[in-house]
Amino acid sequence: MNNDSSSRIVAALRSWVRDAPAGARLPSSRRLVAEHGASPVTVQKALRRLAAEGLVESRPGVGTFVRAVRPSRGPDFGWQTAALRTPRSVIPRLAGPLQTPPPEAQALHAGYPGPDLLPERLVRAALVRSARGAAATSRPPAAGLAALRAWFATELADATRGDLAAATPSDVLIAPGSQSALASIFRALVAPGQPLLLESPTYWGAIQAAHQAGVEPVPVPSDSSGPDPAELDRTFRETGARALYAQPNYANPTGAQWSPERAAEILDVVRSHGAFLVDDDWAHDFGIDTDARPVAAYDDAGHVVYLRSLTKSVSPTIRVAAVVARGPARDRILADRAAESMYVSGLLQQAALEVVTDPAWRTHLRRLRHQLRERRDLLVEALRTHAPAVHLDGVPPGGLHLWARLPDGTDVERLVRDCAAAGVWVSSGDEWFPAEPAGPYLRLTFIGPDPAGYPAAARTIADVLAGGGGSAGGM
Ligand SMILES: Cc1ncc(COP(=O)(O)O)c(C=O)c1O
Repeated sequence: MNNDSSSRIVAALRSWVRDAPAGARLPSSRRLVAEHGASPVTVQKALRRLAAEGLVESRPGVGTFVRAVRPSRGPDFGWQTAALRTPRSVIPRLAGPLQTPPPEAQALHAGYPGPDLLPERLVRAALVRSARGAAATSRPPAAGLAALRAWFATELADATRGDLAAATPSDVLIAPGSQSALASIFRALVAPGQPLLLESPTYWGAIQAAHQAGVEPVPVPSDSSGPDPAELDRTFRETGARALYAQPNYANPTGAQWSPERAAEILDVVRSHGAFLVDDDWAHDFGIDTDARPVAAYDDAGHVVYLRSLTKSVSPTIRVAAVVARGPARDRILADRAAESMYVSGLLQQAALEVVTDPAWRTHLRRLRHQLRERRDLLVEALRTHAPAVHLDGVPPGGLHLWARLPDGTDVERLVRDCAAAGVWVSSGDEWFPAEPAGPYLRLTFIGPDPAGYPAAARTIADVLAGGGGSAGGM
């Protein structure tokens, strides 16, 4: 079956349907087969997709017809607002990076690498092997498969200073991706209504998880070197906070990596306040010019709760992450996870383990580093050449994104909308600020499917910025 020709037929029929009256009969399948030079299976697949979109309906034995628009004014859900009352905390609309663009758009907004950056062959083989084994039918322990926990513990132990007690498998809990682990960690470490310090800007999902956990997010400014230890110390003191959420390596969105000296200073501040540091090592596998340095490798007293996800580097389908925590904090996080979802699918855990223990995993990571470097540099070059008004503070040493400052006074939300209308999807930086944005920013990812389109995308952003509206339909 050919996905491209099916998408081509869908696009052609969509515009046909747009101009046709309700109830009009579509050309027969036989005619579509001849017209598009496609197989009957491909044509059926395209028709099924249009039906799923609600554009057409098929009447067996009669044909396929343009669906009538229902005249009803739509149901009134007003009663639900009365029943639900005002939300306790505001979790805004679906975050920009989770929105699905049309297939022809240049996607610079999303956070998950496409198939060409994943170990696709390894993942498929691992899923097949795992499905044949015991993992397909047995319930794994609540904390996760022992062998997978041991793999995560060994990875962190290898990075840990020789004079410290390294993490062990019993310190590791497996979670279904790090997003849901974040809410559990925040709930376990911070009482409702109590402050949680967050770098600003920081990952939008951490801000949402803080709201979901009912804790009070308190921003701490962070630049390309990380938060200023003196400022952090003052904020701990003023707020009485007992936890800081941070990304010491290739922060999303800024790409910042803390130096070992900065990491040691921040850890000292955290210790001096008897507090926790949540070290979200989301981009551990995405070092480009440097390697990730977990701050958890400098701690054996339970101050650092370490979060390490495989969902972006192995496959977004294999949602598997590890939380490494010690002492009562570990027990509380495990209890919260179990209350929420009991355990993570053993099949996915087994598949993740098969991938990361295959010798080809290391080879994949080496190739990935080159691919990321090439794409990062291509996007940087495209912006510098074609969109000079978009300013980059620096080139990130790792991660998947660029953090771009826009001219003062830019209406970012409008820019994002106009770029999308012109075929380029970008993310508004506003979503990465726990409070008011410090300025107008865009977050641009370099892991989308079409790097050759970066120069055209940069020209579109520049045109929209200049008020020209962009080169619609060009990508
Ligand atoms: C900083 C950071 N943490 C956590 C996550 C969540 O990752 P996952 O739930 O896929 O493990 C993301 C995803 O974008 C992220 O950027």
